[in-house]
Amino acid sequence: MKICVTGGAGFIGSEFVRLILGTHPDDSVVVLDKLTYAGNLENLSSVRDDARFEFVHGDIADVALVDGIAGRVDAIVNFAAESHVDRSLEAPGAFIQTDVYGTFVLMEAARHHGHTRFLHVSTDEVYGQVRTGSSVEGDRFEPRSPYSASKAAAELLIQSYVVSYGFPALVTRGSNTYGPYQFPEKIIPLFITNALDGRELPVYGDGTAVRDYMYVTDHARGIDVVLRQGEPGQAYNLGFGGEVSGNEVANRIVELTGCSAGLIKRVADRAGHDMRYSLDSSRAKALGWAPQYDFAAGMEKTVAWYRENRAWWEPLKADDFWQFYERNYREAPGQAPAAAPADLAPVRP
Ligand code: NAD
Ligand code: DAU
Repeated sequence: MKICVTGGAGFIGSEFVRLILGTHPDDSVVVLDKLTYAGNLENLSSVRDDARFEFVHGDIADVALVDGIAGRVDAIVNFAAESHVDRSLEAPGAFIQTDVYGTFVLMEAARHHGHTRFLHVSTDEVYGQVRTGSSVEGDRFEPRSPYSASKAAAELLIQSYVVSYGFPALVTRGSNTYGPYQFPEKIIPLFITNALDGRELPVYGDGTAVRDYMYVTDHARGIDVVLRQGEPGQAYNLGFGGEVSGNEVANRIVELTGCSAGLIKRVADRAGHDMRYSLDSSRAKALGWAPQYDFAAGMEKTVAWYRENRAWWEPLKADDFWQFYERNYREAPGQAPAAAPADLAPVRP
């Protein structure tokens, strides 16, 4: 199979490319990636010289470019997205453009060229926060951030193509993923790299929101299993099945890096913070997929990787990174320094 992997220079996409080229000798890969702040050719350095690998620098919303690539591959696997919830709260436009419109452009090209498989990488966030129990694939969507709404909107468009055109789409809804090559803005790589530099670990709110963390190789294998064995028209949840709070993430990173627990700092909560996601992944497990790394094992590998690969992440924490950081993180209410009385006086010309 010749596969176009969009967003293949990102975190999970690059792991998927390594998996395909490493385990399917008859497959080849064309990565289409815009190389946004989150895309990085270094993530693909281990496959750069493989004759079955090709890289195209471009945008999934570029109709002519996408149509040309679709005409010479058998399937598209769509990882390309703006992926960070906090950035979607600040500037949602790029999320609508890439996550929704870009997915539409890819589907039109796949339809035009009569592809028989199209896999869209979605997220457990489309279900919204789940107070009790676990989400199954038929549950209704209740997205609560511009990011999760953009992913849900793309899925609704996909569902309409399945119904209207018999479009052969498969969807995976993965849980929060961590591991090597993750841009250091998400909680785990941010906290690890900050800890290694003796910087603060900023926990949102009271730190009790939980996520079902899944190691990246498990996520990539799940997508591969669904691509080959899934039933077109169906969605598949992919989660480890655990629940880890923000406080537990911070404490674990303190233990594994040996940094001071005093670096843990409470900051103002994320707007509309989803307090819990939980997936029932029975449907994917029935295809033969099972996650292999629990949180303890995955975190040991991840901390070791960031410790050994400072040259990969240090340049990513540059000026733009800290500018976003400054805008995003605010003092927790009650911890803000008291305003001096003079500051409270009305300003008069
Ligand atoms: P990432 O931010 O690390 O990588 C995204 C990649 O997409 C980057 O290489 C970027 O350059 C590329 N890209 C962005 N806009 C593009 C465009 N318009 N055209 C072409 N390429 C573009 O993301 P990730 O964490 O690897 O997530 C990959 C996918 O998996 C996303 O669709 C995300 O919604 C989904 N997902 C992520 C997680 C997670 O925890 N990281 C969990 C479930 C689902
Ligand atoms: O669940 C799947 C989703 O997981 C993916 O679809 C998204 O692309 C991915 O970014 C991730 O979203 P989250 O919002 O769950 O990940 P994030 O790492 O941003 O936050 C995880 C938890 O940690 C959440 O409860 C918020 C908290 N957090 C996050 C950051 C960045 C903090 O306490 N402090 C932080 O600095």
